[in-house]
Amino acid sequence: MRIIITGTPGTGKTTVSKIIARELNHDYVNLNEELVKRGVCRYNEKLDTHEIVNREEAEKIADEVLDRSNIIVDTIALSIIDPDKVDIVVVLRLHPLELFRRLRCDKQWRGMKLCSNVMAEVLDYFLIEAIECFGETKIAEIDTTGKSVEEVVRECLDVIHGKRDRRIGIVSWLSALDPDVLVRLDLCARGELDDDSVLVVC
Ligand SMILES: Nc1ncnc2c1ncn2[C@@H]1O[C@H](COP(=O)(O)OP(=O)(O)OP(=O)(O)O)[C@@H](O)[C@H]1O
Ligand SMILES: [Mg+2]
Repeated sequence: MRIIITGTPGTGKTTVSKIIARELNHDYVNLNEELVKRGVCRYNEKLDTHEIVNREEAEKIADEVLDRSNIIVDTIALSIIDPDKVDIVVVLRLHPLELFRRLRCDKQWRGMKLCSNVMAEVLDYFLIEAIECFGETKIAEIDTTGKSVEEVVRECLDVIHGKRDRRIGIVSWLSALDPDVLVRLDLCARGELDDDSVLVVC
């Protein structure tokens, strides 16, 4: 099987993917790290993140990775992957307020980087990207909110083994959020408000 695990930064891709790879006796590849290591990205100082600048080379690297069988690929770089080489795409979801807390308190992210990633989760960015790149039938969304790592791993394995249906459209963060918080998150994502004015979490 060739399995992609994706989701907004902080939703648990790396934690979960490594355990799943071990359980299935598959190889684990962090494609984002591979792209940085192989020099096809440029550092964006404002957002403190790496962006692909050499798309052709990035696609070749993704092809190389997915030419291996029995692999778990941990990545947010979905658009460089050939969909024909992928069996299943798991999109991890996490309630935006829990994600905000995790990114701010655990990862110490701040400002636009913090809020733009939380807004990406609010707006289903990686689910939409996954649907555009792979089509709906290969995708399974897993809501990780309030679940232990073990529970999330179990749900992922059930989907991979076909014991649980692949479902999408399982969360609706926009309607779950206080409109005032949404406005503040949006302002912070644009750099017009400090993140400590969005929510007090830590
Ligand atoms: N189900 C969970 N419950 C509680 N904490 C979790 C869970 N899954 C992951 N975490 C914690 O959340 C943090 C982020 O997890 P992880 O680094 O795996 O996310 P990621 O999606 O790979 O992020 P990035 O895209 O930045 O690499 C880690 O501190 C991890 O221990
Ligand atoms: Mg990671």
